[in-house]
Amino acid sequence: MINIAVDGPSGSGKSSLAKTISKTLGILYLDTGALYRAIGYTVLQRFSEQFTEDQVCSLLPSLTVDLRYEDSVQHVYVNGEDVSPFIRTQPVAMAASKVSAYPRVREFLLALQRNIAAKNDVIMDGRDVGTVILPNADVKIYLNATPEIRAARRVGELAEKGISADFDTVLAEVLQRDHNDMNRPIAPLKQADDAVLLDNSHLDAEGTVAAALEIIRSKVSL
Ligand code: DC
Repeated sequence: MINIAVDGPSGSGKSSLAKTISKTLGILYLDTGALYRAIGYTVLQRFSEQFTEDQVCSLLPSLTVDLRYEDSVQHVYVNGEDVSPFIRTQPVAMAASKVSAYPRVREFLLALQRNIAAKNDVIMDGRDVGTVILPNADVKIYLNATPEIRAARRVGELAEKGISADFDTVLAEVLQRDHNDMNRPIAPLKQADDAVLLDNSHLDAEGTVAAALEIIRSKVSL
């Protein structure tokens, strides 16, 4: 199986890139962040935003998380319920960032991710795909852009949905998530030694896809 890992901070455009590449190359796309978001969402449903690690760990044994592809679109199910429509909010993103620092949560989601990669040609995006989940991935890309550019993109996305957001607030959230993701002791966000850095601060979506395809095609024939 051919496994492509795309890691990088939030807002770098990993998921748009991975989605397009999966269509172009006819391989599966696995959005690993959605798994952490699904846990974050479930935790917020059960506890307040001030949840603790112990509370989350005590909840895990009662959770079954699985992925289903409907018309090639990934849906995440928790205990049989499709939570995908509820996981793209800022509170869920923050909860996901918090639960993703808990070792038991990472362990809980590890086998699911590896099993999919073992059975499918896949492009997987996340924070630790190239470093922890698939250390032997055929291709590893580390996608990055400056925090200011990522925050500006987020403000633009919200504006498209008719939501006006304050740039400084969004930038502060971006920096907070970067800090959480890069400084946790377990599986922190970092570029794998053998990953290729793709800085798309000054590239549009098409330019990013073209650069990524060049990297992929230099390593594997697909
Ligand atoms: O990519 P995203 O914004 O959907 O990810 C949500 C959170 O999950 C993010 O703050 C970091 C975490 N995450 C992670 O720790 N490891 C991954 N492989 C993917 C996401």
